[in-house]
Amino acid sequence: MDFKDIDSPGSCLILLLMKDPLVSPSARPIVRALVAVAFIMLLVTQRSAADSPRQHLSLDANWKFHLGDDWPDALSLVNSGTGSGPASERFADSYWRAVNLPHDWAVELPFDSSADGSHGFKPLGRAFPSNSIAWYRHTFELPASDSGKRIWLTFDGVMHDATVWVNGWLVRQHEGGYYPFREDISDVVHFGGENTVAVRVDATESEGWFYEGAGIYRHVWLDLTAPVAIAPDGMFVSPRFEKNIPQGSPQIAVEVYLLNTTTNATKATVNCEIISPDGKSLKKFSESEELKRESQRAVKLESKLSSPVLWSPESPKLYRLVATVSVDGKVVDQVASPFGIRTVGFDPTNGFLLNGKHYELYGTCNHQDHAGVGAAIPDALQEFRVKKLKEFGCNAIRTSHNPPTPELLDACDRLGMLVLDESRLMGSDSENMKKWDDQIRRDRNHPSVAFWSIANEQFAVQDTPIAANVARTMQDYANKLDPTRLVTYASPEGDVFRGINSVIEVRGWNYHYGPDMDQYHAGHPDQPNVGTEQASVVGDRGIYLNDAARGYVSAYDVLWPGWTTTAESWWSFFADRPWLSGAFVWTGFDYRGEPTPYWWPCVNSHFGILDTCGFPKDVFYYYKSWWTTNTVLHVVPHWNWPGKESQEISVWAYSNCKAVELFLNGRNLGKQIMPKDSHLEWNVKYEPGILSAKGYDADGNVIAETKEETTGEPAQIQLTPDRKTINADGEDVAVFTVAALDAQGRFVPTAQNKIHFSIEGAGRILGAGNGDPSCHEPDVFVPEVPTRRIVVNEWRWKLAKIPHNRGAIPEYANDFDDSAWNTLDAKTSGGELTIKTPDTAAIYRAHFTLTADDLKDAGAQISFGGADDEGWYFVNGQFIGETHDWQAQPIFDIKKFIHVGDNAIAVGVNNVVGQGGLHPNVSVEVIGKTSTPPWSRSLFNGLAQIVVQSTCEAGEFQLTASSDGLKPTTAVERALPCTP
Ligand code: GAL
Repeated sequence: MDFKDIDSPGSCLILLLMKDPLVSPSARPIVRALVAVAFIMLLVTQRSAADSPRQHLSLDANWKFHLGDDWPDALSLVNSGTGSGPASERFADSYWRAVNLPHDWAVELPFDSSADGSHGFKPLGRAFPSNSIAWYRHTFELPASDSGKRIWLTFDGVMHDATVWVNGWLVRQHEGGYYPFREDISDVVHFGGENTVAVRVDATESEGWFYEGAGIYRHVWLDLTAPVAIAPDGMFVSPRFEKNIPQGSPQIAVEVYLLNTTTNATKATVNCEIISPDGKSLKKFSESEELKRESQRAVKLESKLSSPVLWSPESPKLYRLVATVSVDGKVVDQVASPFGIRTVGFDPTNGFLLNGKHYELYGTCNHQDHAGVGAAIPDALQEFRVKKLKEFGCNAIRTSHNPPTPELLDACDRLGMLVLDESRLMGSDSENMKKWDDQIRRDRNHPSVAFWSIANEQFAVQDTPIAANVARTMQDYANKLDPTRLVTYASPEGDVFRGINSVIEVRGWNYHYGPDMDQYHAGHPDQPNVGTEQASVVGDRGIYLNDAARGYVSAYDVLWPGWTTTAESWWSFFADRPWLSGAFVWTGFDYRGEPTPYWWPCVNSHFGILDTCGFPKDVFYYYKSWWTTNTVLHVVPHWNWPGKESQEISVWAYSNCKAVELFLNGRNLGKQIMPKDSHLEWNVKYEPGILSAKGYDADGNVIAETKEETTGEPAQIQLTPDRKTINADGEDVAVFTVAALDAQGRFVPTAQNKIHFSIEGAGRILGAGNGDPSCHEPDVFVPEVPTRRIVVNEWRWKLAKIPHNRGAIPEYANDFDDSAWNTLDAKTSGGELTIKTPDTAAIYRAHFTLTADDLKDAGAQISFGGADDEGWYFVNGQFIGETHDWQAQPIFDIKKFIHVGDNAIAVGVNNVVGQGGLHPNVSVEVIGKTSTPPWSRSLFNGLAQIVVQSTCEAGEFQLTASSDGLKPTTAVERALPCTP
């Protein structure tokens, strides 16, 4: 069985430095949209690829967006190339909102208590049809000189169902939000002209039980290749050591899938070059292969590499394989892929093995969701998130419960983070296997990917022989495509060896610790194990009391839903059992949806070690103590408790020091020995002042000190960016921490002030957050466009001869007297067509009135219900457009044709077959100036976050934060021009 076809998308096979996974987003120039510009960049940036016609171009910039299913009939399955409304290339979208990708419209919607809480109380889905369908349109140009190339359009992920047209041709209907899809659109593009991609996105259905976003929330790419080229995702680089032990020289096994789309047989040569992590050419090797006409063929090559530098999370050294394809001595393609040299495996006794040794997985599960931006996470924010996870020692991510965005894997490769790469649904039918194939081919070059997961918690079927069959088929297929990695399943069962557990290579454990695991291990000593999901302890940053009414939970590690446990219980059990391999905590970051244990007004989960912004909760320091070798000393809680004087407060210390001593205002409250994998507690009568602690090593030396100080009221705002500069590429972001300080400059952990933000210069605010699980303030302030709609109902018409072109006749003029013509009232006509015979034409006329105020505004457009079969449209005697498709519902920009007072519309309609005429559902929209409401966000326990994105301009931007009664502040940062 082979589920491979050429529709496998890819990220790791990227040729150009324009989007180079070896280069972090902060250092990566992204060139977008215009092929011509990109081609120049190609010449400049990649000398060795100068002869390769391949271009890999981002289509993220400059999309038009419209929320609402206003063209339900756009999809036509009657004839080809006849998508109507926005699907048509003639459709005018000039007044739609401009957006850049990735884009998530769900995050822009208000919270609604009647909406589905598990998805974050966003009004999406069957109960909210007007919010659940949207359109995106994008145009790009292709020079005539590209004619003959293959043109591939790739969507990395659209939430949830996408229908895609190119130049009015329906090219793809794709279901499901997490898998990429790609089309070869070479046949339907205009070379030497403008091309239109229209996407109708239907987010009515969902897959997860968590927030999933809505829209084109991952990247879109355009790839241009020669007719003989490396197939999409057509390169597999796989370093292998004998017996999977990293000694001696690894074999670098390379498979290159060549695609010959020509009608001639040909011979192609693949030249491979291995580049070292420090940029030196290490090896060159090649192979030639005969290619039949219109065929695909794998070319297998191999080489040995001496003294390899091994990849690991601690030392993520990346090599690069560059494959150059030539035909008749001419370079026809070049693709480069980063790769890492390392071995991964599992051992029933020693657990997970990295480079031949036990390696404890300090993992976290995560959804693709961040404060401010929802599911549409820019690449630089992916990198920010991976770095945040590494801060507490996390060395592995489980992409629960779906395949990840490729850029997350790029960041994991570069920064050093292992990945458990999970499929969405289990299934061995052709569609699911095709998706599984796509996922593995796309992701298997990433050294970060350590093993595959076929699914999560299939309660209904997991114990059945049928589920075992399906699991075996998926596992065998993964082994075939990728012999270097094993397969697991996230099983929520105990000592059960039935169904999936009985066939899976690595037994996964969700929410389990206790004697039955030892029992299972003893009973199945040959099966390796891993903790696929643990903890689910809940807590909120800076909250130390449960508050059901407000939906807050205490940050002490004491509260967990029935099926889960505390951080300390699960970890101390796993830490003593290396055969369990470590585990993945549910979750690294909080995410929208699954508010547990409380429901509305809570809209987020509280499972994260970090909140939705990436601000640490106290449990962060528990994990950091036991997952890193850094010295950690952290006391819980803060020391601002006015009104609690003389009451006892439970004080905890997280630390990996041998002993910790606590002081209040200098008084010694006792020294305690820190038990391994645990924490310490004191009961302390509150008095304002300084709660401090000292940490000691085994010899009694003080190796750490910390303090929590009672602060004054908030007096000033502090803005701290994660980076000093960003790239002026329209994609890069800086993440600003907003904090409240008192007059003495001390952080105020209880501040809840509302902060207002403004920005000037080369940056735009992309989103705002604060980590508050019950905050209903907007994450995004969407530009508003005031629109006045004038419905044109009253028409006059008569049969007449008309020019079948843009030529005007007296009947189209403003002042033509049509009073003797037939009347047609859109309100009462019931859709009846007025031209009863074929090969007959008619003229339709109507009027609308505009005020001087209307003309002050930004623009106007007219929307028509369509002309059956052809129409020539005029406003005030001037031609505005034509249609030749009886289903087209055109919208024309009429700003330059209108005036104050009476305006006349005239349409000449030619009925070719059957009955015909004008569909009189016509409206004029007067569109005002776009304005963006001022940005604001309340602090949650002292902190908020603002994500600022480059506008594409190079230069400075100033972000200003102000609030009543607080000293404002302005942060100045630079967006640097992208250097090739
Ligand atoms: C697990 C599930 C996760 C999440 C978690 C909450 O069973 O796999 O997706 O729902 O429970 O504790």
